[in-house]
Amino acid sequence: ASGEHVPVLVIGTGYGGSVAALRLAQAGVDVHMIEMGMAWDTPGSDGKIFCSTLNPDQRSYWLRTKTKQPLNYFLGFPIDRNISRYTGILDAEEFGGIIVYQGRGVGGGSLVNGGMAVTPKRENFGFVLPTVNPDEMYNTYYPRANAGLGVGLIDSAWFESAACYQYSRVGRKHAGRSGFPWGFVPNVYDWDYMKQEQAGTVTKSALDGEILYGNNNGKKSLQKTYIAQAKATGRVTISPLHRVTSVAPAGGGGYTVSIDQLNTNGDVTNVKTVLADRVFFAAGSVGTSKLLVKLKATGVLPNLNDEIGKGWGDNGNVMCGRANWLWDPTGSLQSTIPCSGIDNWTAGGAFAEVAPLPIGIETFASFYLSITKNPNRAQFSWNAATGKVDLNWQTAWKQPGIDMAKTIFDKINAKEGTIYRTDLFGTYKIWGDHLTYHPLGGAVLDKATDNYGRLVGYPGMYVIDGSLIPGNTSVNPFVTITALAERNIEKIIATDL
Ligand code: FDA
Repeated sequence: ASGEHVPVLVIGTGYGGSVAALRLAQAGVDVHMIEMGMAWDTPGSDGKIFCSTLNPDQRSYWLRTKTKQPLNYFLGFPIDRNISRYTGILDAEEFGGIIVYQGRGVGGGSLVNGGMAVTPKRENFGFVLPTVNPDEMYNTYYPRANAGLGVGLIDSAWFESAACYQYSRVGRKHAGRSGFPWGFVPNVYDWDYMKQEQAGTVTKSALDGEILYGNNNGKKSLQKTYIAQAKATGRVTISPLHRVTSVAPAGGGGYTVSIDQLNTNGDVTNVKTVLADRVFFAAGSVGTSKLLVKLKATGVLPNLNDEIGKGWGDNGNVMCGRANWLWDPTGSLQSTIPCSGIDNWTAGGAFAEVAPLPIGIETFASFYLSITKNPNRAQFSWNAATGKVDLNWQTAWKQPGIDMAKTIFDKINAKEGTIYRTDLFGTYKIWGDHLTYHPLGGAVLDKATDNYGRLVGYPGMYVIDGSLIPGNTSVNPFVTITALAERNIEKIIATDL
């Protein structure tokens, strides 16, 4: 309620925020979490909480009147459709040179992501988080994060016979024939549940096109792991459809947090202020960066240092498809949950997930989301004329990432005598270079903050999400975001409370 005084306020309910809330609550501290998206705990008129990618409705997108599908073309035709404006689950946030996809709701990105739960190879960790001790991460915090998230591996015997993973087996065959290492990728999906989906004994979810707009069964989102545990302590309160707009030092200590309450049209229905002793920024790389850049530039938090807004990267994301021969079908039934990847990081700077194209028909296509070592970094800045925060990323900055992905797929195409698909992102367009799923950076660890996420100049203010990571994790990022949050919150609880 407005005027309330809380010991800890957490902005956002994604990975960083959920770790902070759980560990603080377990240490006996009351926590209030503020989330701009919906709770996603109530079924719609079709009896389901989430809609599928095969039939997107208003629940799919954050305040849009037309879908903005990452794969926006098929056979060269646009496939986006009209929807009603609603506080839907996936935000396709458009900056000048890139669309940044993000989850909106209690659970953040865990609601919409592919669940791929990958720990970087230890030899690459110095590149991922150069100021963090790898021993403590690999001995303590990565294992803790993997346990807390419920990470597991597919049953490799079942994989060989599952129709829904024919696309992965084709991916393995092509990788192997070109001499690339291929391997299973861990996931938070309940693999036993997926076996039952394939056997036809439970309601289908991964096998019914559910992923980008939420997953009704099987996936262990944060709602089922960290957030469930946090709520069970009795010390954590969550306010969905509330958006933080400002955090300002309060006269008598602590911070005054300004919050807009939203309705499902996205209109502000109420404005509240809360006094918080401590504030954790966990609004995601984009959300946290936007808030901090605005608050510094408008003089609300003038002591924040000049690293705020810097070091932002796209985790080198690029997408592409390959057209297979007619004797290499990838299957009309495809699990939305990817289970494998091709590793050419050391030689070529690319790690490619063998991704599904779950549209219910045989496409004879292999589809990949590559994570590359693209060195380009962008910066957020305050635009006083528009009253918004801009990001200076240019579409052309994807080229190094495309070149790295080509070290894998040019070779596979040459070996197989195949070509790239040109119909998935437009007409005669090979590369999905217009987007990222993995925004990272903007308040980089040991630069914008100290080496544990404390914001320089403001005691009791912390960053604890993907904005701490300097632009690239060499693999999918959420396990690293979770492990870093586990490391930082342990230190903060031990020394600051
Ligand atoms: P996260 O974005 O999760 O949470 C931030 C929360 O803060 C959101 O709920 C947001 O609504 C809220 N918020 C923002 N501003 C606010 C404000 N002002 N007030 C209140 N609340 C606010 N990663 C991976 O490792 N494996 C994978 O398979 C995938 N796949 C994937 C697919 C797709 C489609 C997407 C979009 C993303 C992925 N990812 C992924 C990326 C992964 O989901 C992402 O890196 C993490 O969710 C980031 O975690 P954070 O804690 O940083 O923020």
